[in-house]
Amino acid sequence: MLYSEKVMDHFRNPRNVGVIENADGVGEVGNPVCGDIMKIYLKIENNIISDVKFETFGCGSAIASSSMATEMVKGKSLDEALAVTNKAVTEALDGLPAHKLHCSVLAEEAIRAALKDYYDKNGIAYDPALFPAESCAHEHEHTGDE
Ligand code: FES
Repeated sequence: MLYSEKVMDHFRNPRNVGVIENADGVGEVGNPVCGDIMKIYLKIENNIISDVKFETFGCGSAIASSSMATEMVKGKSLDEALAVTNKAVTEALDGLPAHKLHCSVLAEEAIRAALKDYYDKNGIAYDPALFPAESCAHEHEHTGDE
């Protein structure tokens, strides 16, 4: 079977789908290769992600990855959320096929973009190295470490 049970579960029953009105941070990223788009909304209280929702216009693996990623950052501190990598998301899903790893990268990037948006909006200083400039072809640089 190409996809793990966890992937199928999160694909069929995605957690935290939707929009947060007046979100404290919003991140939207796209993959130029497949054209898929992911948007993450964060509600942040006292440095904790109290709520998170996502919208994905993308493939099944992107849906499963965003669903899992939202579960992984909910209730966490901002630093903990920043530490959620695409690798961690993929592991939590019991793996993704190699050609689908970039879908989990989208989830990591969307969360980071939403955190950056929160920092920017609130004038909170951060280490720019945490948020590499958004470039186009992420696909290969992130997926080499399977
Ligand atoms: Fe593009 Fe999955 S094929 S995010």
